[in-house]
Formats: sequence, structure tokens, C-alpha cells
Amino acid sequence: MLARDGPAIETRGVTRRFESRKGFLFRDITRTDALQGVDLTVERGSIFGLLGPNGAGKTTLTKILSTLLLPTGGEARVLGHDVSRDADWLRPRIGLVLGGERGLYNRVSGRDNLRYFADLYGIPPVEREARIRTVLERVDLSTAADRRVEEYSRGMKQKLHLARGILHRPEILFLDEPTIGLDPKSARETRKLIRSLVVDGVTIFLTTHYMFEAEELCPQLAILSKGRIVARDSVDNLRQLVGGDRTLEAEAYGFEDRELATLRHLPGVSKVVEEEYGPATRLTIRVRTEETGVDEVRRVLPGHDELSVRERRTSLEDVYLDLVEEEAR
Ligand SMILES: Nc1ncnc2c1ncn2[C@@H]1O[C@H](COP(=O)(O)OP(=O)(O)O)[C@@H](O)[C@H]1O
Ligand SMILES: [Mg+2]
Repeated sequence: MLARDGPAIETRGVTRRFESRKGFLFRDITRTDALQGVDLTVERGSIFGLLGPNGAGKTTLTKILSTLLLPTGGEARVLGHDVSRDADWLRPRIGLVLGGERGLYNRVSGRDNLRYFADLYGIPPVEREARIRTVLERVDLSTAADRRVEEYSRGMKQKLHLARGILHRPEILFLDEPTIGLDPKSARETRKLIRSLVVDGVTIFLTTHYMFEAEELCPQLAILSKGRIVARDSVDNLRQLVGGDRTLEAEAYGFEDRELATLRHLPGVSKVVEEEYGPATRLTIRVRTEETGVDEVRRVLPGHDELSVRERRTSLEDVYLDLVEEEAR
């Protein structure tokens, strides 16, 4: 067994296959390999982000790690304990908030919802009310606590979900797309709340398909594509992985192959990608060093009337598109 101060999460070759039957007498079996060998280590006390497009397997992995679903292969340990064998030990130590609006009792108040979950979690009755008050304050729902949940906005419901997720003081909190469907203000408040939880020493495992959210919240992240981890590192290192943290964009009405070749030979240029951009063509130039900038690019692209060149920082979106596309190739 792993030591107590070992990683929060460790998986080796985790796979999950779904089989669904359809057609006459349910004879047609469709198999989906949602996870195809996931190796992951998540250290304690931080926010770890799992980023991936829809259908990548994020929810499946979250459910496996939070003991809701069994893996069909491989091994997954959370807090040093096997998710399949030690589920009873793990459950009280885990918080889980799945996206969407389900799982709350709309006809009763927010506070009554939390009372119900407190009893379910086995929180001692003498502690219950104080504990509920604390988490309601934490998620900024104190004033709305005695209103019925059906009157809550989407953002307030999500806050109540988070309150439920931390009520039993879990060591590790799983958040599956916590801001999906929220308006920008609620999403911002939710992210602020998530950041504040880390301060208390909670390890947070968060999935998202919003690049900026992962960039903003997660010092470390992994990119999941078609059931496989295609990269795992800090945002800054991921930028280097795809060829540098500077990106130049040049737009004009068509470029010649010879010009692309020249660009590729400029100092520090690691990659030049050409794409249609409306009626124009856009070149995305990834640069590793300071030597090549807007001026150098302009100099090797003479004779274009409508040339525009600008520089921006390589974004996580660039990284993501590079890696997810590489995987698709
Ligand atoms: N219960 C299920 N039965 C059949 N297929 C499923 C089931 N759950 C998920 N899948 C499939 O597994 C893949 C991964 O799904 P999911 O984990 O929900 O991805 P994500 O959360 O990244 O969008 C998808 O192709 C999805 O259709
Ligand atoms: Mg999902």
C-alpha cells in the first residue's frame, strides 16, 4: 500500500469498455472503449485539471476514481487505496460533484438538502447544524439557505452542489465540468470558490473542456483525447512541448510554398501551419526563441499588399489543438 503522503491519485493502464445492445432481440452489440489505458499521477494539495473534448472519457474516469464505476482493466488508487477493493474506505473521504442539475431536492430549502446529505454521510447530529452553516457561508448561500431550491438560479444550484460536496470534509474533491451551463458571473464565482478550497488542503481533481478554465485554475493538467492521456504537465511546459511559448500569426491572400519554407528556416521557428481564414490565408508560426518576431516575418514575406503580422503568447488552446489533432492523425 502507498504511504499516506503518497500521491492523491495513481492509475496504471486503466481501461473502461461500455457495451450496449440494440436492434432485434438486442443482438447488435456496440462497444465503446471510453478509456484505453490511462496512466496518471496526481499529487496532493493542488488542483489537477483533466482537459478534453466531449466524449474523451472525462466523466468515465471521474466516476471510476470516485468509486461510482468499476474499471474494466488496470488499476486505480486514490489516497493509496484501490478504488475497486477499498470503495467503502474511500467513499467518506471523497467528494463528488457531477455537472448538471440533478441530485438536489427542489421542493425543499437548500439547508434541508444539506441536512439530508449530512445524515446520509453520517455527520454526528450535534455537529450537523454548525457544519451546514459553515459550508453555506463558504459558498455564499447563507441568505438564500431557507428558500426552496426550485427558486435557485443555475449558479446557486451549482453552489449548493459544491456545498454538498464539501460537507463531509473530503480529502479529495472530484468536480466534473463544474461551470458547464453557468452564466459568466456564476462561473467566475464558482472558480473563485474552487480556488479557495485548495487553501484548506483539499486536493481537487477537475475536468473541463474550457481551455481558459484549466489554464486559470490548474497548475498541473493532463489532456485526455479518445480515452488516452496525450500530455501531462504544467501549462508552461505544455507550451514548450508544442514548440514554444510565442506564436506569430501572418495573414494575407495566399502564400507560396517557397515563403513557407523560408519561414520554417528562421531561427527558433518550430512549426508553421497554413489554414484558410475566411477569404484569406493564415499562417500560425510557433517560435521557441526571441530572435524571430513580427519584423523578421515581414521581411521574408515581401510583396503582399494586405499582409498583417502579429504576435501573441501561445495559448493552451494552441497546445490542445496541436495535441488533440496529432492524436487524430
Ligand atoms: N453508460 C455508457 N454506456 C455506453 N457508452 C458510454 C456510457 N458512458 C459513456 N459512454 C461513452 O464513452 C465515451 C466517453 O464518455 P464520457 O466519459 O462521458 O466523456 P466526456 O465526459 O469526456 O464527455 C463516449 O463515447 C460515450 O458515449
Ligand atoms: Mg463528461
